[in-house]
Amino acid sequence: MEMKQVIVTGGAGYIGSHTVVELHNAGFTPVILDNFINSDADVLKGIEEIIGYPPSFFEVDCTSIIQLREAFEKITAQGVVEGIIHFAAFKAVGESTEQPLKYYQNNLGSTTAILQVMQEHSIKNFVFSSSCTVYGQPNVIPVDESAPILEAESPYGFTKQACERMIMDVNGSAQPLNAILLRYFNPIGAHPSAAIGELPIGHPNNLIPYLTQAVAELREPLTVFGADYDTPDGTCIRDYIHVIDLANAHVAGLHWLSSQTEACEVFNLGTGNGTSVLEIIEAFERANGIAVPYKLGSRRPGDVTAIYADVTKAKNLLDWSCQFTIEDALRDAWRWQQKLGAA
Ligand code: NAD
Ligand code: UD1
Repeated sequence: MEMKQVIVTGGAGYIGSHTVVELHNAGFTPVILDNFINSDADVLKGIEEIIGYPPSFFEVDCTSIIQLREAFEKITAQGVVEGIIHFAAFKAVGESTEQPLKYYQNNLGSTTAILQVMQEHSIKNFVFSSSCTVYGQPNVIPVDESAPILEAESPYGFTKQACERMIMDVNGSAQPLNAILLRYFNPIGAHPSAAIGELPIGHPNNLIPYLTQAVAELREPLTVFGADYDTPDGTCIRDYIHVIDLANAHVAGLHWLSSQTEACEVFNLGTGNGTSVLEIIEAFERANGIAVPYKLGSRRPGDVTAIYADVTKAKNLLDWSCQFTIEDALRDAWRWQQKLGAA
């Protein structure tokens, strides 16, 4: 049978590693391009533990056209490339306001370089990691893909908007591609085997990694950032999606792209349900039978009150839906934390 390779930039990262596993499960041959700038080579061993063989891997800085060309030469010589999933980027909102050039250089630089080398090899299908951050605080929730894009609140958010625009411009050019722009809501959890998961480096800013580290007594109790929002329990509402459900949406997206020629479609990827911070704490306690140490604190600047996805478009066009519950995700997140270690 013909090998269907999929190039996965950032495939050693959190969402990328889970997507590599699901691509394998769906019969694709994932090929990882990563420079471990925000991950660890051990992730490749974790993936091997699950799929049973070492994944194909090239150590490449995706902002380097030269390195990309070398890798693409080798990969295309091995067989057909079905598509590219471009995860490689920096993603810390706070850091992006302190070091904007680092974000522009890496996030815009890697997307430009990948698109260029992709065109040189006439590879058509492209999947881009975007974020619900492009919506800011939408007027209507659940938010669908037709909601206006608001002025970005951070350089990180702007890199996502700019890359979306870059891909749309290429799609409208003389050498169009076939692309989907996936706007992730809040990915959480880990592989149930605990062989791979999220590796927060330093102080975690996101809720779930901080929560699991607080439960593991590696950190001070969790601070709930604001309990005076205009929501039923006063805490912010988000759409938390199990990372494996998110990974599977990429597989569904590739299947859909193979039936298209010059598409350029945006999809929201979430569960369609909003969950408050206090509800997350309760769900974690229910799923794991352990109390979460926490205190109520002040609001975090830049947080939106409530956002969750209308996922009708992804469900209908991609024939995809979520299989895991919040409790599943929080059970897997805790299992992963236990593997990483407690105090
Ligand atoms: P991650 O940091 O865990 O993974 C990114 C991977 O890309 C890492 O392995 C890193 O080493 C690699 N990388 C970064 N720059 C690179 C470069 N120039 N060359 C080669 N490799 C490079 O992040 P993640 O959470 O898996 O996020 C993946 C993508 O999804 C990112 O584009 C991110 O902006 C986007 N996203 C993430 C979230 C989230 O909550 N995690 C939400 C919305 C969007
Ligand atoms: C943040 C980013 C967003 C990015 C996403 C995924 C901001 C403003 N937004 O989203 O652009 O796409 O991460 O990387 O940074 N919370 C606490 N205590 C904590 C941590 C978080 O109460 O210690 C609350 C937050 O106030 C928020 C919710 O938990 O209401 C989720 O926070 P987080 O995981 O950081 O994700 P977002 O803010 O939704």
